[in-house]
Amino acid sequence: MVCRSVCTLITFSVVLLILSSLASAIRSSPFDSTARDGFYSEPALPPLGSGSQVSSGPAWPEFREAPAFRNGKQCAFVNRTQNELDHICDRNSVHISMTLDVKYLRGSMAAVFSILKHTACPENVIFHFFAADRDEQLRSLVFSTFPFLRFKVYHFNDALVNSRISPSVRPALEHPLNYARSYLADILEPCIQRVIYLDSDLIVVDDIVKLWGTKLGPHAIGAPEYCHTNVTKYFTDAFWNNRILSSTFDGKKPCYFNTGVMVMDMVKWRTENYRAVIEQWMAVQSSTRIYDLDSLPPFLLVFGGSVEPIDHRWNQHGLGGDNLEGKCRPLHPGPVSLLHWSGKGKPWIRIDQKRKCSVDSLWAPYDLLLPSTLSYQ
Ligand SMILES: *[C@@H]1O[C@H](CO)[C@@H](O)[C@H](O)[C@H]1NC(C)=O
Ligand SMILES: *[C@@H]1O[C@H](CO)[C@@H](O)[C@H](O)[C@H]1NC(C)=O
Repeated sequence: MVCRSVCTLITFSVVLLILSSLASAIRSSPFDSTARDGFYSEPALPPLGSGSQVSSGPAWPEFREAPAFRNGKQCAFVNRTQNELDHICDRNSVHISMTLDVKYLRGSMAAVFSILKHTACPENVIFHFFAADRDEQLRSLVFSTFPFLRFKVYHFNDALVNSRISPSVRPALEHPLNYARSYLADILEPCIQRVIYLDSDLIVVDDIVKLWGTKLGPHAIGAPEYCHTNVTKYFTDAFWNNRILSSTFDGKKPCYFNTGVMVMDMVKWRTENYRAVIEQWMAVQSSTRIYDLDSLPPFLLVFGGSVEPIDHRWNQHGLGGDNLEGKCRPLHPGPVSLLHWSGKGKPWIRIDQKRKCSVDSLWAPYDLLLPSTLSYQ
């Protein structure tokens, strides 16, 4: 299945390359084997007990220190004093990946806080953060806010992705960091077999270890699916009218899913090289506009119809309202384990602007921002 779509894409891309101008032909191939060299990981978890100050400036927020969270008795043992690599590779560690961006920092901090607060085994969780710039400052900020957290900050070379991104309906979706989730299998330690990817505009109000234990069956990703949404509209006529491209969905029933909450099987990602397949689709998109939104459609193209469905309680999405206006939206009916402010409205902005929606009151208790630094935004 994978080979078929990859091979079809290769054929199509070759045709495109021949047809396209010399200028675009010079652009590196998505299968460029040097792509990986553009990423490097920062060494070492922060040493315990050596806090460092974040250089202050008007454009930098400060957060209050979160309390230390300790494992319950039922937790599997993870030796936190072993060296970093052994710790990361410990089979009982729980891996969560998020991006770190100044603009969404307040959301990221609230998300981390909510996860630690609700899990029985907070000491077993390791966070893997991706930053496109000011990595060192962001690392210090996470460390001063969560002195007991085990985490790693990786530099994400956005220049590599930038050239592949096409204009989308909402500029915020074009941030190269949005594509970091496609590169996790390349960036994370090879011993990591599974990771939970989370957006920064959410809070978790249940034990993340339950989500971690999700069975993925034969699938490379798991996410709540919404099969009543017609995915036809995510792709352009140019896509549907091209038999080679649209055959991707032959015999499949793709359902909408949100890429902001995913359980990802890193072993499958590495063996099937899904990153390359996603890049291949991005290359097609940059020559022929085949979709309008930028971050979801490549995932739909690659995984649509073969996503392990996870209970909807793990992504109560859309709380930010629509992409244009950010109107208030109520919670969907049913149990809630994760609240996600996808859409334009973000709870911290609405709270500051005194136009809070009722669901924003559920986010507020996780806000760690020191009010004195409110002016940063
Ligand atoms: C944890 O790892 C360290 C370093 O490898 C080792 O010295 C120590 O004995 C280990 N502790 C336990 C309880 O296994
Ligand atoms: C989805 O939408 C397209 C066009 O908007 C329509 O042609 C198609 O029949 C719809 N499919 C379903 C299953 O409703």
